[in-house]
This record gives sequence, structure tokens and C-alpha cells, in this order.
Amino acid sequence: MVTILEYIKPNIALLTINRPDALNAINTEVMQGIFDTCSALKENKDLHGIIITGAGEKAFVAGADISGFQQLSAEDARKLTQLGHDTYHMLEHFPVPVIAAVNGFALGGGCELAMACHLRLAVNTARFGQPEVNLGLIPGYGGTQRLPRLVGKGRALQMILTGDMIDASTALSWGLVNGLAENKEELIASCVLWIEKIASKGPSAIQAAIKLVNAADDGLDGFSMEIDVFSDLLLSTEAEEGVKAFLEKRKPNFRS
Ligand code: COA
Repeated sequence: MVTILEYIKPNIALLTINRPDALNAINTEVMQGIFDTCSALKENKDLHGIIITGAGEKAFVAGADISGFQQLSAEDARKLTQLGHDTYHMLEHFPVPVIAAVNGFALGGGCELAMACHLRLAVNTARFGQPEVNLGLIPGYGGTQRLPRLVGKGRALQMILTGDMIDASTALSWGLVNGLAENKEELIASCVLWIEKIASKGPSAIQAAIKLVNAADDGLDGFSMEIDVFSDLLLSTEAEEGVKAFLEKRKPNFRS
């Protein structure tokens, strides 16, 4: 199986890209696997979050599978690129948090996969890059759009135009990752803690926040959407419980 799905907690899914011999490079089968798995996970209303990682210790994902590029027809190239965009768009808009557990190289489509997730945690030895120009290409799975939004235009252009990698501590200081871990075990444990923390908040609020933070990227009027959504949430049973719990000096119980 090129993608493996496990539940590491009853409500937390771990999706592993499993092509360690090719540094988990994404071919059509892998991309379709991520798409199908996450489409199915979306139907699980008890899900608290997804962690995406790469098999082994060396790579998260070292990019799109270069070995398949020469065989692609114009139609195949278009279909693969569209599938990549659809898959990453689904992750970015997923109603519960999706966290990239970056356990090594995150290059090209791998860096773009991590950027499509809501949060990114990485091992200290991880390296990030958009090396496509070395092949006469550009980032093709949203990297030209998501990278400048995360790190700013100047740093994005630096990475995309030079193809140079940055190390994990630089990625942290640039805001490309949210936190670092010593090793893979600690990395996954840390992702679980982040998901559990977010799952303790109001689920409708979390879902709405993800939608609104993405609004401008989708060409929508996020300010007016925020007025509608915030006003609705104020009257929701979820906010009723949150406010009541605060006033009663106890922890809210959003999921009873
Ligand atoms: N597509 C297909 N195969 C890939 C790959 C990719 N993106 N990245 C690595 N591999 C394969 C290598 O071909 C090699 O296979 P082999 O053992 O059959 O020869 C195997 O993974 C191990 O990679 P290798 O290059 O030997 O490891 P390394 O430690 O010397 O270098 C990298 C690691 C990540 C620096 C190097 O593999 C690399 O530059 N990969 C391409 C990254 C890239 O350009 N990604 C964007 C693609 S659009």
C-alpha cells in the first residue's frame, strides 16, 4: 500500500505516505490514495484530526515522482496536476485539523503537501525546499500561492527561484513550521497533543475558523462572512455552553 491509514487514537487518524525507497515521492497512485482516504475520512463525524507523515526516518515526501514525468502525455500532465490541486485544496478546507508531521525532506510536492495542511510540525533534521527550477519546472501543487502566504513574498521567491533548501530552524523562524521535535516518535506525540487541544474547543468554532481563514485565498469576502458566522455562533448552543462554563468557572463540555 502506498498510503497507509491507521487510527492512533480512537478519533485521530495517521496517514502515512509509504514509498520509503523513493523517499515517499508522490506518484498518481499516492495522490489518488491521499484523495480517496481523506474523502472517506471527511464522512467520519467523530474524527478529531488527521496527521500526515512519511514512512521511514529520512523523508516526509521528496516531491512529485520525477521518474514518471517522461511518460506523461499532455492530458496525463493536466489530470495529475488537477488531482494534486483538488487533493491539497480538500486538505486545506478539511473541517477538522490536518497536521503535517514532517519527519525529513519536504521538497517540491512534499513541501506543498505540508503547506496545504493547517499546521506543520517537523523534526529538527527536516529540510524544506521547492527545487523544481532545477528540473526546469515550477511548484505545481499550489506552492507558488501558499508559500508566499506563509513566509512572505521575498522568502518565497528566494526558495522558488534558487531551489535551495532551508533547514528546520529556519523554517520555524520563517513561520513555515509551527514547532519542532527531536525525533519522529516525539513528532507524532506532539501532533496528537495539538489535535487533542483543538478538539477540546467548540467544534463548530474550529470548523468556522478554518473556513474563514481560508476565505481570502478563495477570493471570498472574509470580513462580511465573519460578521455572519460570528453572529450565528453567538446564538449557538456551543457558545452558550462556552460562555456558561466561563461564568461558572469550569471547563466547557462541547461534545456531550
Ligand atoms: N522522485 C522520484 N524518485 C525520487 C525522488 C523523486 N522526487 N526523490 C528521491 N527519489 C529516489 C532517488 O531516485 C533514489 O532512488 P534509487 O535508490 O532507486 O536511485 C532514492 O529516492 C533515494 O534518493 P537519493 O537521491 O539517492 O538520496 P540522497 O540522500 O542522495 O538525496 C534528495 C536526497 C532528496 C536530496 C534527492 O533525492 C533529491 O534531490 N530528490 C529530488 C527532489 C526534487 O527535485 N523534488 C521535486 C520534484 S518536482
